[in-house]
Amino acid sequence: MWTSATVIERIDWNDKLFTLRLAADIEPFIAGQFIKLSQERDGKRVARAYSLVNAPNADYLEVLAVRVEDGQLSPSLHDLNSGDQIEISTRAAGFMTLDELPADMGQHLWLLATGTAVGPFVSMLETEQPWQRFKRIVLVYGVRLQEDLAYWQRLQELAQLHQGQLELVACVTREQMPGALECRIPDGLADGSIEQQAGVTLSAQDSQVMICGNPGMVSGALELLQERGLAKNLRRAPGQITMEKYW
Ligand SMILES: Cc1cc2nc3c(=O)[nH]c(=O)nc-3n(C[C@H](O)[C@H](O)[C@H](O)COP(=O)(O)OP(=O)(O)OC[C@H]3O[C@@H](n4cnc5c(N)ncnc54)[C@H](O)[C@@H]3O)c2cc1C
Ligand SMILES: NC(=O)c1ccc[n+]([C@@H]2O[C@H](COP(=O)([O-])OP(=O)(O)OC[C@H]3O[C@@H](n4cnc5c(N)ncnc54)[C@H](OP(=O)(O)O)[C@@H]3O)[C@@H](O)[C@H]2O)c1
Repeated sequence: MWTSATVIERIDWNDKLFTLRLAADIEPFIAGQFIKLSQERDGKRVARAYSLVNAPNADYLEVLAVRVEDGQLSPSLHDLNSGDQIEISTRAAGFMTLDELPADMGQHLWLLATGTAVGPFVSMLETEQPWQRFKRIVLVYGVRLQEDLAYWQRLQELAQLHQGQLELVACVTREQMPGALECRIPDGLADGSIEQQAGVTLSAQDSQVMICGNPGMVSGALELLQERGLAKNLRRAPGQITMEKYW
């Protein structure tokens, strides 16, 4: 089912990357889930999935998106301004949520994201659940440029608030940024530089890993983690790796 949402605010992180804050009535959702945003074009509906970035108890909805130049929907979303309307799905969906992780496995949570896929992890970190469940949390955030690190300031605030529990590792691939690694996520896992920067070891015994975003990164990280003895987390066979590809 579709409902109309009103844009109440937009944040431009750079000329392509933006957040839309929306006012709309949807069913309750779990941090990590996505909704669909949609427009009618010549009588045909164009709909795409967008993860919710806000905490489930917020009184607004928030999505982080990037303008894909030849994309069907994202350029129109990028053109929206405060007061504009967009259709959204009333029910969120998706299984990349903390309650899908096996309850008794792993005391360290690894969150691996490229680009806009940091959104569902921000939503999770705005809830109580990860802080109560995990001793250490490492968020690895891979982007091309420093200016693509949306929500970085908020993440740094959370790291301060949860000092010793949350470690942030930025992997910036197309320029140097002080304090950041200059590698793709699978490469930084392979050579140990991400673990070294985080000060946490990633192991099948201790870790749950959530991976989200660019399908090449997701597949690359999955392959590497499987070589290290971690397995996909399935309902019929609990494991350590839970993932979502954005395309
Ligand atoms: C479960 C799920 C959750 C998603 N959540 C988000 C989200 O929170 N924010 C978001 O921006 N997108 C998200 N996406 C992707 C989104 O649904 C659209 O595919 C994207 O906005 C492009 O739509 P489009 O119609 O403009 O481009 P299309 O005409 O559909 O072109 C798709 C192409 O755009 C590129 N692309 C798509 N999404 C991205 C992206 N996020 N970053 C970089 N390149 C991309 C890829 O090359 C892909 O092949 C999600 C996808 C899935 C499956
Ligand atoms: N961000 C920009 O400045 C920019 C510029 C032009 C167009 N765009 C548009 O924005 C869209 C999204 O760009 P984005 O920068 O958000 O997302 P992205 O292209 O998915 O890049 C995000 C991060 O993922 C890395 N990555 C890409 N492929 C990978 C793979 N196979 N394995 C491991 N890591 C991988 C990138 O490294 P690499 O840098 O090594 O690729 C980068 O660090 C593009 O599709 C394009 O339409 C963005």
